[in-house]
Amino acid sequence: MVETVEVAVAVNGRPVRRRVRADQRLLDVLRDDLRLTGAKEGCGKGECGACTVLVDGQAVDSCLVMAYQADGAAVETIEGLGERALHPLQESFIEKGGVQCGICIPGMILAAKALLDQHPRPSRAEIAAALCGNLCRCTGYTPILDAVEDAAEQLEAL
Ligand code: FES
Ligand code: FES
Repeated sequence: MVETVEVAVAVNGRPVRRRVRADQRLLDVLRDDLRLTGAKEGCGKGECGACTVLVDGQAVDSCLVMAYQADGAAVETIEGLGERALHPLQESFIEKGGVQCGICIPGMILAAKALLDQHPRPSRAEIAAALCGNLCRCTGYTPILDAVEDAAEQLEAL
């Protein structure tokens, strides 16, 4: 029988306390238990970034984080980002055509948010470096880089 562990986290600003299996990943708890399906399972082994969420402000692959490892942390998913109104990153991805099938986009936007929160005016090379763990099969990346640059400008003007 798999051991269970009590975990308390803040998810999108709301306290969540639940008993999780020791073998449950953060991605599983978000998607299956909390029904926050914005984070996607692509590769399941830390290579595609589709499952990216923010844990205490850092972009992480939630397929590689066990749920118990997030105990005490603040977790932010794409659902929290756009809860009241679209975030400037979301607006810019739409505006610049950085979204096609959409599978990579929640992770891409959260990885970009982690970057802009820590480094509000990154160079294009710094944006590309920050997003290098997030794969996109559709866009060719140029509109995504354009979108993050645009969002940085929008955020600076706020
Ligand atoms: S599903 Fe987590 S990195 Fe691909
Ligand atoms: S928009 Fe389809 S994988 Fe990025």
